[in-house]
Amino acid sequence: MLHILSGKQFADKNLIDKIFKLANDFELADKKGEIPQMLSKKIIACIFFEPSTRTRLSFESASLRLGAGVISAENASVNSSSTKGETIEDTIKTINCYADAIVMRHSENGIVEKASKVSNVPIINAGDGSNQHPTQALLDLYTIKKEKKSLENLTITFVGDLIYGRTIHSLLELLNNYSNNKFYFVSPKELSLPAENKKELLDKKIQFEETQNLEEALKNSDVIYMTRVQKERFKNLADYEKVKDSFLLTTEHLKYLKKDTIIMHPLPRVNEIDPQIDNDPRAAYFRQVKNGLYVRMAILVLALGI
Ligand code: NCD
Repeated sequence: MLHILSGKQFADKNLIDKIFKLANDFELADKKGEIPQMLSKKIIACIFFEPSTRTRLSFESASLRLGAGVISAENASVNSSSTKGETIEDTIKTINCYADAIVMRHSENGIVEKASKVSNVPIINAGDGSNQHPTQALLDLYTIKKEKKSLENLTITFVGDLIYGRTIHSLLELLNNYSNNKFYFVSPKELSLPAENKKELLDKKIQFEETQNLEEALKNSDVIYMTRVQKERFKNLADYEKVKDSFLLTTEHLKYLKKDTIIMHPLPRVNEIDPQIDNDPRAAYFRQVKNGLYVRMAILVLALGI
């Protein structure tokens, strides 16, 4: 069994390859209508203390497709005993009695790792505050590999909320395994990449540039990764209002892109990508959503040690 807690634990490219091979196998099996029932008799618990559409439903769909049963607390900050004052440790020890794996999302940085310390079953981090979202990063990386046929020699532009965007923090850790990539970070300065992420890039001698010039970055990019400004992390709403619509990708921007650049977004989008772009073949975000299903099937199988 394996807890999936952060991008850092995937410093082994072989492990990433194994997940991608399995995800691809599941995709092919799905097309034939023959997904193996590898998780039959297992029960997966999805405990979400923060809102979610894709992450929770894709984990539930992945579990069901593999033959597992699912139990869920979709609004755990209100509906679970945590509102009565139960500690996360007691909640996890309780769910251990009912489930074979736990998928957990929470607003507090580090709490999923804390939960994993008392768990006898694998815990999968489905996002902890502004810290990490490793399964999203794996599906993002899988999407890049599938669309660009390589994870090296790429120019990747990250746009939006780089300080609170947990998907970016995890994805950068995965991308750091691969050579000769260059990153552009486009954000208002209040939302720039945290110092520790920049230090890691410097230590690994990975080329990067911070800029507010979106057009310039778009011209040079193979991958554009848009993100939502994470409203729920702001203490003061006025600060959010100031930066919320800083960067919107419109059809006007498409002329700057190469023919084979892909546009990604972990979703939900609020006002970062004009929906008119959706029909452009370079818009990869809904293909990214679909990939998430297969990558999460692979993650569940791996975490359960099957
Ligand atoms: C992201 C998240 O929850 O961090 N969404 C997701 O899981 N696909 C991004 C976001 O909420 O902006």
